[in-house]
Amino acid sequence: LTKGECLYEGKAKRIYATEEPEVLWVEYKDDATAFNGEKKDVLEGKGLLNNEISSIIFSRLKEVGIDSHFIKRLSSNEQLVQKVEIVPIEVVVRNVAAGSLVKRLGIERGTAFSPAILEFYYKDDDLGDPLMTEEHIRVMELATPEELAQIKEIALHVNDRLKEIFKDIGIQLVDYKLEFGRDHTGEILLADEISPDTCRLWDEKTGESFDKDLFRFEQGNLQDGYTTILSRLGGNE
Ligand code: C5P
Repeated sequence: LTKGECLYEGKAKRIYATEEPEVLWVEYKDDATAFNGEKKDVLEGKGLLNNEISSIIFSRLKEVGIDSHFIKRLSSNEQLVQKVEIVPIEVVVRNVAAGSLVKRLGIERGTAFSPAILEFYYKDDDLGDPLMTEEHIRVMELATPEELAQIKEIALHVNDRLKEIFKDIGIQLVDYKLEFGRDHTGEILLADEISPDTCRLWDEKTGESFDKDLFRFEQGNLQDGYTTILSRLGGNE
């Protein structure tokens, strides 16, 4: 396959067509953004790290029967994915209180949740990705009730496996964001990326962050944190 026309450029990735109508070519960029694009920088190597980490995680999920749009890693910062129509809902899974949850509800940071909390945000930059309820999803017809039930089921299944993957490498999976799409047959498929850009990952022993909070709150070197995750996952920098 060859890299064709650029179809879409997001904050962290560029999506290109290929000669296969159902296959897209994804390029991970080094651009870092936070707070809905208010904070920006270019962090050399970030694209490579996220591409590698996301490829490893989607492959591990596949091994336990959780399909995603991921087809294969192509190069240090590129991968092939199945084309999907993205459902404009960001699904946030929380195992431990942090971030906006602490801010919004005053729950103490570090409080553990079992079962995990699921939240939905409307994927709309102009509105600042607002929190939404299942009723909002229903009236806005963002997903059918059947699709939403499937999305929730997959998210919880992903959570069981993802918690294990990180526990095995001494990392606490605090929270993360998932996105879903519809493939050409209309089936719901896990999509986008799972990386330290979209997860909060704390060292089990020290509580140190190895995720995008390093950039958001200038807590340390982002590439060092992401490199720690990649090497613990058994990947090569
Ligand atoms: O900011 P908040 O605490 O709601 O984020 C929860 C989790 O979802 C964090 O791991 C964050 O990195 C991720 N997230 C994301 N993209 C967004 C919003 C949140 O990856 N647009």
